[in-house]
Amino acid sequence: MPVPKADYLSSVWRDGIFENKVVFCTGGAGTICSAQVRALVHLGANACIIGRNVNKTESMARDIATARPGAKVVGIGGADVRSIDSLNKCVEKCVQELGAIDYVIAGAAGNFISPIQNLSANAFKTVIDIDLLGAFNTLKATLPHLIASAEKNPNKADNACTGGRIVFVSASFHYTGMALQSHAAAAKAGIDALSATAAIEFGPRGVTSNIITPGPIAGTEGMERLGSRDAEASGLAQKKVPLGRYGSVKEIADATVYLFSDSGNYVNGAVLVVDGGDYIPNASFRKAKL
Ligand code: HXC
Repeated sequence: MPVPKADYLSSVWRDGIFENKVVFCTGGAGTICSAQVRALVHLGANACIIGRNVNKTESMARDIATARPGAKVVGIGGADVRSIDSLNKCVEKCVQELGAIDYVIAGAAGNFISPIQNLSANAFKTVIDIDLLGAFNTLKATLPHLIASAEKNPNKADNACTGGRIVFVSASFHYTGMALQSHAAAAKAGIDALSATAAIEFGPRGVTSNIITPGPIAGTEGMERLGSRDAEASGLAQKKVPLGRYGSVKEIADATVYLFSDSGNYVNGAVLVVDGGDYIPNASFRKAKL
């Protein structure tokens, strides 16, 4: 049973804008990234999704392919973003099967909650390696293809959008710090620096690098782990967001489509915070005073 379009994409986008384009996505079997890829596939792209779990990744690829008749979606399981060799092999397979890489979503992340005093050095390093080194490896392995895509754009023969873009899926909790998240917060701060540097280094080649920071998004594994299953805690957490609710995966997919579409042509080195205002310091205090 195909996922209804209304669950992963707004109706404002024109069909076919990503025709003949290829999306490469790490963490593509996850709740947020699969919605991002599904939206791009619906709008004409083919895609390659990368994950650790073979069955989950391959079955998600088949599922995403139902978003558009004729869509090609390749699922590569058994991959590990901590290894540049693993990513290089995934990139090679993607280009062999789909011919190019025009857009990249660096979405793989690992997380668990722990106070600093309970974190071993290896536990800290594990999350840094998945979240930050994994983001670097994704950029490094795909960069030649992003540059090639950006360079062919001036001669593009179709009406599809401009290629040569990477989006890192990160978070906004490192701007304030967050209890139990020292490892991920440190990694996300590194992603800010990595993306901004890539924006400066590769902007002159036509490649853009941006970050999307989802806030609390309903139905994700991260939210489940952080305790949103508890109805009372969930109600309080939703009230803390200035917009008064959790976000949806569709809202992250829409932000991705914007950044990859020609509407986002001049956006480079930006952090697009999609969290209902949740990251704003003292937002809950100010809201309570109104
Ligand atoms: C303390 C822990 C721990 C925990 C693992 N470790 N879990 N320490 N509390 N709950 C320690 C281990 O003891 C070990 O240290 C080290 O971390 C590595 O653990 P491994 O299990 O060997 O690592 P690995 O198998 O590579 O697993 C990585 C993982 C795991 C991150 C620990 O959870 C994972 O694979 N997650 C992938 C899926 C995932 O997390 N998705 C959620 C993404 S959501 P020692 O010293 O014993 O060797 C997201 C958004 C979060 O990121 C938003 C938050 C606001």
